[in-house]
Amino acid sequence: MEIATLTRWYLGFGLGRSLLRMAARRGDMIPRALVDPSLQADPYPFFEELRARGPVVQERLTAATTSHAATKELLRSPDVGVGGGHGELPKPLRRLLAGLQRAQVLGPMDPPSMLAVDAPRHTRYRKLISREFTARAVARHEERIQAVAERLLDDLAAETGDVDIVQRYATLLPVAVIGDLLGIPDDQRDELLRLGNDAALTLDPGLGLAAYRRAERSIRELHAMIEAHIVRLRENPGEDLLSRLVMLEGEDALTDVELHAIALLTLGAGFETTVNLIGHGVLLLAEHPEQRALLTDRPELWPNAVEEMLRIQPPVQFTLRVTYVPTTIAGQTIAKGMPVTAMIAAANRDPSVFPEPERFDVTRANAHDHLAFSAGEHYCVGSGLARLEGAIALRTLFERFPDLAVTGTPELRETRVLRGYDRIPVVLGTRVAAG
Ligand code: HEM
Repeated sequence: MEIATLTRWYLGFGLGRSLLRMAARRGDMIPRALVDPSLQADPYPFFEELRARGPVVQERLTAATTSHAATKELLRSPDVGVGGGHGELPKPLRRLLAGLQRAQVLGPMDPPSMLAVDAPRHTRYRKLISREFTARAVARHEERIQAVAERLLDDLAAETGDVDIVQRYATLLPVAVIGDLLGIPDDQRDELLRLGNDAALTLDPGLGLAAYRRAERSIRELHAMIEAHIVRLRENPGEDLLSRLVMLEGEDALTDVELHAIALLTLGAGFETTVNLIGHGVLLLAEHPEQRALLTDRPELWPNAVEEMLRIQPPVQFTLRVTYVPTTIAGQTIAKGMPVTAMIAAANRDPSVFPEPERFDVTRANAHDHLAFSAGEHYCVGSGLARLEGAIALRTLFERFPDLAVTGTPELRETRVLRGYDRIPVVLGTRVAAG
């Protein structure tokens, strides 16, 4: 078992990480985005440097798109795909890895996860789950999200000292929403939180062995939880996404492995990303009192403020594609079989689309043109829900605690693809009674 875990880690993460580190030492720039720890605190000057080399940068092992137009073109290109979730590996190694995978340890980026399969398989899953994320379906969550936000803030109202707003608020709201989506009983939410946090680690290609072992253990536990839960839902279905998927029949019916993959991806893709949006939002507004004042005077700006937060601090910094044929992006041909990183965080600060891109401006007219939710076939299916959660979470927080101030140094998580805070100490200040 131990050897299998080690091999899975090596092929899925370790080998890629060593190659990236080696290439970074030889002076290649793209791998640094993934493995250079000195870029964690502020990666943006590096993205500027990379974009200065052109909209498409090609190096020995890999390529990247850096401008807004080239990144969008890549993500929408029919000539590229997700390469089975480990597009950075040569095909024979990808096959070997797939052979070593076992259903109990399939992570959110392993096939048949939607983020690891291409059309037509992807199209089928996407059609089945999209029904749960239409504007009307998302609107049904609004009241509940508002109620959860208010309950969490009621719990905080008695605090007079420092409060970690990530652990006490930003994390708890998305876990309640995902718990509802998957129909997970309330008393298992703490467990879901712990396991979901660990599972999300596998979205990062630079994952070390110790973290991988923890993630794999948690993924195993999550599969066991989902398994028991599917059995319950088959007997007693509810009104949630998973219940509806479990009950599909005929040619729509999903296998157990497919159901597990969807549940795990919803958790892996929908949880920490939203935590990061809320965390970044708290910090941005704490650092920009004039923008906060604008939102107090003109609350109708909240949805646009969330777009601007997603633009300037995208919770998913980049994503990977692999070219299936020689592919032309921004007029440059990239060879077949090349891993290409779509640098979302660089595209979102492209000055040809967003003038003065480093300025946080909640009134920016085209803020919603960001690529924080990707583009093309894998465009985030939960984007409507994430926008709603972000707007309710932040608006309710700042309306209840208008003097909220950051009191210490926020701590970033180590992961690179998902960039966000683990801890933001704040003092809540004057309270305004709930409306
Ligand atoms: C601020 C929060 C969020 C951000 C920034 C975000 C970002 C993304 C991005 C960038 C992708 C595409 C990755 C790629 O192209 O390779 C994606 C896909 C996805 N997201 Fe989100 N996401 C967020 C919230 C959510 C939520 C709340 C859910 C569901 C509850 C969700 C479910 C998914 C799923 C299922 C996919 C795969 C879609 C596909 O492959 O067709 N996301 N997300």
